[in-house]
Amino acid sequence: MTLSKQEFRSAMSLFPTGVAIITSEPEGYSAFGMTVNSFTSLSLDPPLVMWNLQKSSDTYKAWHDAETFAVNFLSAGQQELSSQYARKGEHDLEPAVMERGITGCPLLADCLASLECKMHARNEEGDHVIIIGEVVAVLSQPDTAPLVFHNGAYTELK
Ligand SMILES: Cc1cc2nc3c(=O)[nH]c(=O)nc-3n(C[C@H](O)[C@H](O)[C@H](O)COP(=O)(O)O)c2cc1C
Repeated sequence: MTLSKQEFRSAMSLFPTGVAIITSEPEGYSAFGMTVNSFTSLSLDPPLVMWNLQKSSDTYKAWHDAETFAVNFLSAGQQELSSQYARKGEHDLEPAVMERGITGCPLLADCLASLECKMHARNEEGDHVIIIGEVVAVLSQPDTAPLVFHNGAYTELK
């Protein structure tokens, strides 16, 4: 029995997720961000989180060089931002949407939460790299509604 890519992709799209923009500014690069929905928490002690990067991404080298990054959970009103940082070749952060965390890492303003992370590990698996970060600081606005991605489209919690 062979599972087709399309069958696998369609089944995965049925799992609802939040949406995050991961931001960083490795030495020698300008501040950039990338939309992901592969984020999850990994460990409580130490506090580790992870997300997956397609190896074919133009940002692969920058993520290889990054020592810190921030995970910015998007709120229901930030769908435009999500689409903007999912466009190929358009990852540069605009100063207007950017703040700085305690490590100097760029953060996005007005998000549900921003987790500032030190790079912990990168593990290549299949056509993706698992990027693991140790969370060193957290900013959050718990009363804000999240942006949700399900079945290939944005939605909100009802
Ligand atoms: C909702 C959503 C979730 C995404 N999740 C991921 C992800 O987890 N990992 C990833 O590498 N790309 C993900 N992407 C794709 C990237 O945001 C972006 O489209 C892609 O990196 C563009 O190509 P480039 O990296 O070569 O510029 C996602 C896109 C969208 C719209």
